[in-house]
Amino acid sequence: MPDGPAPVLEAVLDVRDLKTVFKTRSGEVHAVNDVSFDVRPGELLGVVGESGSGKSVTMMSLIGLLPSPPADIRGGQVLLDGLDLLQADADTLRRVRGGRIGFIFQDPMTSLNPVFNVGYQIMEPLRTHMGMTKAQARLRAAELLELVGIPDANRRLKDYPHQFSGGMRQRVMIAIALACDPQVLIADEPTTALDVTIQAQILELVKELREKLGMAIIWITHDLGVIAGIADRVMVMYGGQVVEQAPTRELFNNPQHPYTRALLQTIPSVRGERPEKLNVIEGQPPILGAAPTACPFRARCGYRFDRCDTENPSRISAGNGHDAACFYDFDAGGPRNAG
Ligand SMILES: Nc1ncnc2c1ncn2[C@@H]1O[C@H](COP(=O)(O)OP(=O)(O)O)[C@@H](O)[C@H]1O
Ligand SMILES: [Mg+2]
Repeated sequence: MPDGPAPVLEAVLDVRDLKTVFKTRSGEVHAVNDVSFDVRPGELLGVVGESGSGKSVTMMSLIGLLPSPPADIRGGQVLLDGLDLLQADADTLRRVRGGRIGFIFQDPMTSLNPVFNVGYQIMEPLRTHMGMTKAQARLRAAELLELVGIPDANRRLKDYPHQFSGGMRQRVMIAIALACDPQVLIADEPTTALDVTIQAQILELVKELREKLGMAIIWITHDLGVIAGIADRVMVMYGGQVVEQAPTRELFNNPQHPYTRALLQTIPSVRGERPEKLNVIEGQPPILGAAPTACPFRARCGYRFDRCDTENPSRISAGNGHDAACFYDFDAGGPRNAG
């Protein structure tokens, strides 16, 4: 084999200009505004942004989990290996969910069904998506519990969700999400409700599983500190938009959006402060309403100038696979030329 650069893998999931609007009695809420991103096999993409920035609505839009009404997906493409999920029928979407795309949600107590034992809940997708017999599914379910580090897996299949601790329930959720060998795993703040030690264990487990199974992972959190240790690439969301995206080290070393810079200031390890002295970003997040015609961060931004009030910046490449939606040029130390 000739020497050369490692082959760049094609994106397994490619989201382009996704636009999701809620129709409410007091008018339209533009929750996701032209969001574009992709993720490649084996890659871990971290998604950060404070509460209400559109992280969950983006991910739920992808796989048709938002009830319509009130949600209306106004535009975009969601290509899973070339198949546009926004054009797919309900049957196809059902097969994709829990099949080719796995999901983990924040609260495993509400996501697990309390009336069925966990064995049943892991076996169910194996039987419906993979056509396994009961015996095959039971064998695989035990393997999966073992894979996610639950001791005495075979016996624990008969236990109900309440018989597991919070961290163990989260592991069961991961086992369910992994059951059908997904190409993409979407984890929406899966460790937020857990204590720090358990969080660290779950993160370690996910890193291990990614190496073992080679799937793409989208890891959503409001905590940039969590991302630092696990993500290959980070996408920062604000006001329903992607404001910055870069390989992790590049983002931490060379942030190009004022919001990302502010977020980095809030990480205790970066500032060398104790967590109780944690900084918060001054000002309020934007109230989402009509389609944005100006920069969503302008009200909280120390670099704001005239143009920010009349135009919404699109993402500008900063090289190194890095882009940011900002009219201020941090390298030049001044506003960019209009154009
Ligand atoms: N059912 C709904 N009706 C109207 N607006 C909604 C609804 N669900 C979500 N939103 C809007 O979408 C925004 C983004 O929400 P979400 O994606 O859950 O944020 P995040 O996951 O980043 O915390 C919210 O700020 C809210 O304005
Ligand atoms: Mg959310």
